[in-house]
Amino acid sequence: MAGKINVGVIGAGRIGRVHAENLAYRIPGAKLVAIADVVAEAAQKLAADLQIATVVQDYRAILADRTVDAVVICSSTDTHAQVITDAAAAGKHIFCEKPIALDLAKIDHALAAVQKAQVKLQVGFNRRFDPSFRRVRELIAAGSIGTPHILRITSRDPAPPPISYVKVSGGIFLDMAIHDFDMARYLMGSEVVEVYAAGNVLVDPAIGAAGDIDTAVTTLYFANGAIGVIDNSRQAVYGYDQRVEVFGSGGMALATNKTPDSVVQSDAVGVHAAKPLYFFVERYAEAYVAEMREFVQCVREDKRPSVTGVDGRIPVVIAYAAQKSYAEHRPVRLEEVDRR
Ligand SMILES: NC(=O)c1ccc[n+]([C@@H]2O[C@H](COP(=O)([O-])OP(=O)(O)OC[C@H]3O[C@@H](n4cnc5c(N)ncnc54)[C@H](O)[C@@H]3O)[C@@H](O)[C@H]2O)c1
Repeated sequence: MAGKINVGVIGAGRIGRVHAENLAYRIPGAKLVAIADVVAEAAQKLAADLQIATVVQDYRAILADRTVDAVVICSSTDTHAQVITDAAAAGKHIFCEKPIALDLAKIDHALAAVQKAQVKLQVGFNRRFDPSFRRVRELIAAGSIGTPHILRITSRDPAPPPISYVKVSGGIFLDMAIHDFDMARYLMGSEVVEVYAAGNVLVDPAIGAAGDIDTAVTTLYFANGAIGVIDNSRQAVYGYDQRVEVFGSGGMALATNKTPDSVVQSDAVGVHAAKPLYFFVERYAEAYVAEMREFVQCVREDKRPSVTGVDGRIPVVIAYAAQKSYAEHRPVRLEEVDRR
């Protein structure tokens, strides 16, 4: 495809703003042409900030516009599957935020629509595009740490989301740990076959009252025999704690937290350094640009995105297994929750 592609953003919330700003200012191959949000003021505010003329409440107006090549779905999770299905039917290429849906049947329906329409679909697993995590993956793939034996992922948010968000999020495994389940597959290059999850409400009783937990540890068995452990908390008082470590027969690869500066100050009290970058918008700023650049490039050059619909589906299956394991206090194999 010669020239820029025209892109519409659907959903003008937290992540919608990140993607819209990147499309408007940082991705030369794309032109942001329209913004949709059911809340008119949200779409209008974002469009005004970025000087985008077309603002709609119903995303189907964007799909009906023949000049739009692709859409970026940033609306609430419960809308993704329907928007994907409608966008595919309209022949638009699709970038969709994670998770595709909380329900496997809905995911399969949406993926079938994408397959039928032969449009591109990239799922928003942005952490794969983080330069440090990508480097760890490259080291493992090159055999630089030998055969991987143990994976450790630490993934803790700086503060819990509002209880209104918790109630519709699908729970900590589907909403939060899903990124880590994807990271586990990505880093190890092997599929998860069994999980064993422990969890509790240790941060805020209101999260428990909403039917969720705020602290979890998930043990993973991979098909290649390696073992992984992911620990999640909804509240790390020192900021967004995002680390990975892969230990293998020939060594170890470690990605530590990113800080706003690298100064270490020593005094009579101790040795001090900056806290990690506060949250996902800051921590993964480069990764959000890189993933959208890849999507736009795939559309323009007719290439397959590296994060596919199947990559969107599998972490949902792992999350289902983790939920079941936590509820039943036992290890759960993935085929128990996905008999496809
Ligand atoms: N990859 C990441 O790092 C990351 C980070 C945050 C959120 N997310 C995902 O992005 C999605 C949005 O999360 P958020 O935090 O931006 O939420 P948000 O609540 O801030 O924004 C969602 C927006 O979508 C709008 N909306 C809802 N239904 C719509 C519809 N039918 N058409 C158009 N707009 C609609 C809402 O009015 C709201 O403005 C979720 O699926 C979430 O899991 C991903």
